[in-house]
Amino acid sequence: MKSFDLRALANEGRQKAIEGAIVAASGALRRGELVAIPTETVYGLAADATNAAAVAGIYAAKGRPSFNPLIAHVSNRAMADAHGIFDEMSAKLADAFWPGPLTLVVPKRPTSDVADLVTAGLDTLALRMPKTQATLDLIRAVGRPIAAPSANKSGGISPTSAADVIAELGDTVSVILDNGPSTVGVESTIVMIDGDVPRLLRPGGVPRGQIEAVIGRPLLAPEGGDTNDKAPLAPGMLTSHYAPNALVRLDATEIRPGEAWLGFGPTAPAGIEQAIAAANLSPSGNLIEAAANLFRLLRMLDRTGATTIAVAPIPGDDMGEAIRDRLIRAAAPR
Ligand code: TXA
Ligand code: MG
Repeated sequence: MKSFDLRALANEGRQKAIEGAIVAASGALRRGELVAIPTETVYGLAADATNAAAVAGIYAAKGRPSFNPLIAHVSNRAMADAHGIFDEMSAKLADAFWPGPLTLVVPKRPTSDVADLVTAGLDTLALRMPKTQATLDLIRAVGRPIAAPSANKSGGISPTSAADVIAELGDTVSVILDNGPSTVGVESTIVMIDGDVPRLLRPGGVPRGQIEAVIGRPLLAPEGGDTNDKAPLAPGMLTSHYAPNALVRLDATEIRPGEAWLGFGPTAPAGIEQAIAAANLSPSGNLIEAAANLFRLLRMLDRTGATTIAVAPIPGDDMGEAIRDRLIRAAAPR
């Protein structure tokens, strides 16, 4: 496995070395190998989306149930249009939020050569144009979409640094592009225009309100709810997900024996002095900062061996919707 520290190379002005890293990563993808990619949301475990055997390698490495489809990442709208059919509302959303943390589920174009394993047999395809420049350059170099779920074992905490990826999946990837910590920190928002009904399949890095403002319509829940474990509409929305080893207790206002504390805002809980460890998502109560810190601090507190991570109340508006979604899944019975 080769790891390239893109930030250090950029700071040293070594543009040629960065190009070399992209060449190494695109070569690996074209040979059907797996590459860890940085995005503004979380790190991804990438394969050539048109190579079924390579995509199978993603499912195997993650231990991911094969009914759970993957997001295909593109470097521009033309590539997206070659594989998906954009209705007016989806096109408007792509224009407004790409590149960025929004995934659009659209009908898969019949001529698309994206492997059926990517869509898990669905006739729709999830497409996203990430913001991280090195990853856009990589997709352009490969010349086709790359499938990439979060680079963690299925059901676990998503990685927001190259070190997280190496710890969990380092032996399965040929190349890691290390671009420092992911800035958004929670996965992309997933939207599907269902007939003419816009649906929020997963809250994420673009808050609901911003999307509703662009389309001028409220986002509805997925049909049949969002936690159907058998044949989910956004199958990543399994009830238990993002789970640390420790149990997670939400909306906690006091510390119980054996617990670690994950705070939000300036208020300390009763009994804080007996906490095994303590961390704060955002001492000032900023939801964007809290999202960026969420998975890193969950991992950190999990490593302390606490039996339970007690989490402060977090408001559900703006980025809070995605944060609460992840925490509710982390706290779900497994
Ligand atoms: O921010 C992100 O989206 C990250 C980075 C790496 O881009 N990726 C990510 O991928 O979160 P993953 O595989 O962990 O989540 C993909 C989600 C799953 O919930 C999956 O069920 C849903 O997208 N999905 C994919 N294709 C779909 C489809 N055709 N219809 C409905 N949901 C789909
Ligand atoms: Mg994931």
